Amino acid sequence: MTREFVGERGRLNEPSIQAVGLTKRYGSFTALDSLNLNVEGSKCVGFLGPNGAGKTTTLKLFTDLIRASSGEALVNGVNVHTRKKKALESVGTLIETPEIYPSLTPREALSMVAETRGVPAAERKKRIEDVVTEVRMDEWVDKRVGKFSKGMKQRINIAAALLSDPRIFLLDEPSTGLDPRGMSEVRDIVKSLKGKQRLIFMSSHLLSEVTDICDEVAMIDHGKLLVYDTLSNVTSRFSGGENIVEVGFLRPLDGGVNGRIASGVPGVTSAERVDDRTLRIRFNGGASTQERLLSNLVGMNLGVISYKPASSALEDVYLSLIKDTK
Ligand SMILES: Nc1ncnc2c1ncn2[C@@H]1O[C@H](COP(=O)(O)OP(=O)(O)O)[C@@H](O)[C@H]1O
Ligand SMILES: [Mg+2]
Repeated sequence: MTREFVGERGRLNEPSIQAVGLTKRYGSFTALDSLNLNVEGSKCVGFLGPNGAGKTTTLKLFTDLIRASSGEALVNGVNVHTRKKKALESVGTLIETPEIYPSLTPREALSMVAETRGVPAAERKKRIEDVVTEVRMDEWVDKRVGKFSKGMKQRINIAAALLSDPRIFLLDEPSTGLDPRGMSEVRDIVKSLKGKQRLIFMSSHLLSEVTDICDEVAMIDHGKLLVYDTLSNVTSRFSGGENIVEVGFLRPLDGGVNGRIASGVPGVTSAERVDDRTLRIRFNGGASTQERLLSNLVGMNLGVISYKPASSALEDVYLSLIKDTK
């Protein structure tokens, strides 16, 4: 039917995941309530919600680790339950990862995974080296995992997910449980997975993490999807059209620059100094205004080096949405 059509028609080469009325009940308790979500393209989507919201449930349904009570989960248009092998062939996952045997080295552990995933024997050695490089663990590939920090182990788990060179990654709170350094390492790795025609769908209960890594956000609470949109549209939609970004600069800014931005760039309502290299800019409008704002700022030759939605604005949205569902 149509759902096959979606996949096969697909804007060719665009990875996609889709939930259609996806529901999971445990007895009379509904852990996931008729989720409809269509994510398509090479992008990173943060699946954000507090503990118990239904994130892991959703990811398990997408990998057929549990069975839906009703509805369907599709990957590239293919039903993950009825055609599991086909649906999951281009999916790498990090969901409830088992501990790696401490006496193994990453090379040994990854060889075993590569074998079970059906990576052809002739390609295994090269694939393992490639994925180990991608998670920046080259120096450790022949050391025993038992000596690794949790963050390093998690990077090896990500390497394992990369082995079959998937186009789609389903990551369940990849940085949770790590110390701050491990969290930041894992976030850097996830960021570096972006691009390369990959779709990353990553759950998190941390707004700051999603803001840092993702292009889009799907918020969930009590098993219900609250919103799915780009980070900037979510912020502006729920803040009366006003949007806030934080812009970082290479050099300290001169005193008059806020005024020049506030008066000279269309749509900007204020530009306030956070520190001598960071401005917090408020403007009216969504993604297209934001694009114009960024190109204007770059054109002013102030040395823009970073640009992100201010998490405090999104924090307000997150907290208000989650409060409303209680
Ligand atoms: N096997 C299960 N039996 C009963 N309830 C479950 C089971 N698994 C999850 N739940 C419940 O479903 C809800 C969603 O859980 P989960 O998807 O793990 O949330 P999250 O990953 O967002 O923290 C929680 O209230 C949890 O207690
Ligand atoms: Mg979870």
